[in-house]
Amino acid sequence: MDTTPHIVLKAEALAKSFKSGAVSIPVLSGVSLEVTAGKSVSIRGESGCGKTTLLNLLSRLEKPDSGTLEWEGRRVEAEQATRLAATRGRFMGMVFQSYYLVPELDAVGNVTLAAKVAGLKPDRNRAEDLLKRMGLGERLHGKVATLSGGERQRVAVARALMNRPKVLLADEPTGNLDEKSGGIVMDLLLAICAEEGASLVLVTHNRSFAARADEKLLLAGGALHPAQ
Ligand SMILES: Nc1ncnc2c1ncn2[C@@H]1O[C@H](COP(=O)(O)OP(=O)(O)O)[C@@H](O)[C@H]1O
Ligand SMILES: [Mg+2]
Repeated sequence: MDTTPHIVLKAEALAKSFKSGAVSIPVLSGVSLEVTAGKSVSIRGESGCGKTTLLNLLSRLEKPDSGTLEWEGRRVEAEQATRLAATRGRFMGMVFQSYYLVPELDAVGNVTLAAKVAGLKPDRNRAEDLLKRMGLGERLHGKVATLSGGERQRVAVARALMNRPKVLLADEPTGNLDEKSGGIVMDLLLAICAEEGASLVLVTHNRSFAARADEKLLLAGGALHPAQ
């Protein structure tokens, strides 16, 4: 039996600088990361150290200056932008600090939108099931503009999981929530990723949330290090 862990996402020596006038400011100088199927990784680091930039490279929303990225063993590089968006939409889900929901749609509409964007048939039953598992069974048809921050973030988690992604990237998903609703979102996020078999890359400032991941990393000096 092959017991080698299955690597779903692999980054090697990713580097990224931003130009400010004539000077180039290095943000990431060589980030390597392997994400194992079904496992969670947390990344902590000071504000401005490059956490969001790293997630943008892992999702290929931005191109690195150098280094390589593989999704499911396939190099992500030369694909056309439209194909890349569809590939990304099936492989990966994303949760942001500020939710990025469509306020005039209801919760189900926001979740099924993820399927449409990825060129998949929107399965309403799947969307409703995910929302119920996120504790939103009573909130399926309210406009998301009427939901609380914690409820909106739970809709965003359901949306990120809609297409059965292999990997979910979450960028400070509890950053705008109080400790209690942040805790509820985190419990549900970890539980539902485990149930769905999705790997989780979690960027957070919260030490106790970070500690719950299978692997704990710190981003500092442009590279990842094991965190205590
Ligand atoms: N598009 C951009 N253009 C110029 N500088 C950027 C851009 N995106 C991020 N930066 C800079 O890169 C650094 C890292 O930013 P970011 O990845 O957002 O950090 P974090 O998420 O850890 O707070 C910051 O100094 C930020 O100002
Ligand atoms: Mg950030």
